[in-house]
Amino acid sequence: MQTSTQTEIETYLDSLNWRYATKEFDRDAKLPEPVLEGLLEAVRLSASSYGLQPYEIQVVSDPEVRQKLRAAGWDQSQITDASHLLVFTYKTDFGPELVESYIDRVSETRGVEKAKLNGYSDFMKSKLMDLPREQKSNWTARQAYIAVGNLLSAAAVAQVDACPMEGFDPVKVDEILDLGSRNLSAAALVALGYRSESDATQHQNKVRRTRQELFTHI
Ligand SMILES: Cc1cc2nc3c(=O)[nH]c(=O)nc-3n(C[C@H](O)[C@H](O)[C@H](O)COP(=O)(O)O)c2cc1C
Repeated sequence: MQTSTQTEIETYLDSLNWRYATKEFDRDAKLPEPVLEGLLEAVRLSASSYGLQPYEIQVVSDPEVRQKLRAAGWDQSQITDASHLLVFTYKTDFGPELVESYIDRVSETRGVEKAKLNGYSDFMKSKLMDLPREQKSNWTARQAYIAVGNLLSAAAVAQVDACPMEGFDPVKVDEILDLGSRNLSAAALVALGYRSESDATQHQNKVRRTRQELFTHI
């Protein structure tokens, strides 16, 4: 097993210190397509509970749609000015098909007979299917946030600026993107691009709880 060296983690921490929730994007600076594709792949590779990935991501390029989303998003300029805007949506409800499509994928990807996966399939269904709808959607939204976190870290490593946003009216965003008809709802937006030189926030020190406050060693 290869162990991570101090240098690698230091490089990663440098990236995390470099990133910040960008308030002002350079409107002319566009992400090269391969960089965007790499970041989307990082989202696709995110861990999720049981591997079910109960979410979808909308990559919004249409300027008119982004203008409408900005109005529903506290008029935050990042929504229209960043190179790209991703909307992370979670399933507001699901049935056995969520587990069954996953089992199909496992069988195909790993060349395992579906019958051999019946036990695991039944186990997942027993844990998930009887949950009240609200608990289901709380759970799916949590899975979507893991993907958001993964994207933010990947963007930092790629020296791409990002702003995660919860500052929006989800009812309006769901309406604009017609998410309700597909049992989806918006959890978070992430603007991606390059910071404007005039964004003062980039010069501010990071505010974080101390390690003592954050970690308990038992
Ligand atoms: C889920 C989530 C929602 C956020 N919503 C907004 C937002 O709507 N607008 C904004 O400018 N920043 C938003 N932020 C950015 C946070 O304020 C920022 O991450 C935090 O203050 C830490 O600062 P840093 O990310 O610059 O290190 C959000 C961050 C997260 C993780």
